[in-house]
Amino acid sequence: MRKPLIMGNWKMYKTVPEAVRLVKQLKVMLADTVDVEIAVCPPFTALQAVGEVIKGSALKLGAQNLFWEKEGAYTGEISPEMLTDIGVDYCIIGHSERRAYFHETDADVNRKVKAALAAGLGVVMCVGETLEQRRAGLTQRVVEEQVTNGLAGLEVSQADKLVIAYEPVWAIGTGENATGQDAAEVIAMIRRVAAGIVGEEIAAEMRILYGGSVKPGNIKEFMAQPEIDGALVGGASLDASSFAQIVRYN
Ligand code: PGA
Repeated sequence: MRKPLIMGNWKMYKTVPEAVRLVKQLKVMLADTVDVEIAVCPPFTALQAVGEVIKGSALKLGAQNLFWEKEGAYTGEISPEMLTDIGVDYCIIGHSERRAYFHETDADVNRKVKAALAAGLGVVMCVGETLEQRRAGLTQRVVEEQVTNGLAGLEVSQADKLVIAYEPVWAIGTGENATGQDAAEVIAMIRRVAAGIVGEEIAAEMRILYGGSVKPGNIKEFMAQPEIDGALVGGASLDASSFAQIVRYN
């Protein structure tokens, strides 16, 4: 059985006091949640403070990016080991905003995924097509390529460490979401492609999330699809009560 994962991606929002306030609220609101794994991904500056608040609770801590080297003269970068050092459990890798604004390629994503897993971090690798690609009927091809390249040469021993998030770019922050059925179809394809790389067993056990304008009002539609194992939530994760409603979707 795949335990659903609902992850809040706070992006470049929240100062340290704001982040601490938000996670304290979540900790109280979601204290009795057992059937869903919950993670929050604050900006780097707030990771440690948020980690202190959730210590001893079921909430998990995620980062939004990393660099693949362990250490070195890479001004401005953060290594996987620096993240595990402060108790980070997961790292989002290859988010479409990083691909679009910071020119991350599939090859970069692949190096980051490998380095993160080697350091013992859980990975949430993001894939998804743009509006133009969707209109041109290229969704399956684009996503298949991102999955194939992103996971290339990967050896995964623990399925719970590898998560893929299908996030159609046109649905991110736009209020326009994919339908549950559309998302489930792409996600089923992602699982088939992943099986060819990491093996049937790991692919059957790993979680594949949907992301893109997930809100309290539409989470049920996604979670009703057996193929969809949770959600990566941006905007709606910045408010404690809306994120808590999403986590308590049933
Ligand atoms: P959104 O963002 O929920 O605000 O659409 C999702 C994401 O970027 O992970």
